[in-house]
Amino acid sequence: MPTLADKDACELLDADHIAVKHLFVEYARLAFAPAAARGADRKALAMKICEELTLHAQIEEEIFYPALQDALPDTQGLLEEARAEHQEAKKMIAQLQGMGAADAAMDALVVQLNRAIEHHVKEERDELFPKAKSAAGLDLDALGARLRERQQELQGEAAPAA
Ligand SMILES: [Fe+2]
Ligand SMILES: [Fe+2]
Repeated sequence: MPTLADKDACELLDADHIAVKHLFVEYARLAFAPAAARGADRKALAMKICEELTLHAQIEEEIFYPALQDALPDTQGLLEEARAEHQEAKKMIAQLQGMGAADAAMDALVVQLNRAIEHHVKEERDELFPKAKSAAGLDLDALGARLRERQQELQGEAAPAA
């Protein structure tokens, strides 16, 4: 079985997509849970979703999208659309990060962000990843290694060792 370290660029990015999907599902589950403590948990989950998405978008913008554009200039339109969708998501993320305790407004915005991300991920999976896989000049294993390295570096910055 391939280990995490063997993941190529598309597999690595899609593992992030799946991980954040799980966080959205967990948030939705808590939003409907009757427990009195669910507010703090929702807030923490929302912040975790924001962090994960911010980091993911950053490594795509720094490494994956430019590599794809270099190897396949005809992806430019798709990549412009993808970058615009990242900007939209970042606005929602900034709004969420500015919110206080979890409430109905936060729940609604998390639902909205989830929908936007679902749409964006579908385009990456259905359009960008197949193109990346078909590009002769693109070494997806090497690109995966670069993405992982940058991801680990940024994770280290986001969570300084205690
Ligand atoms: Fe993306
Ligand atoms: Fe992505």
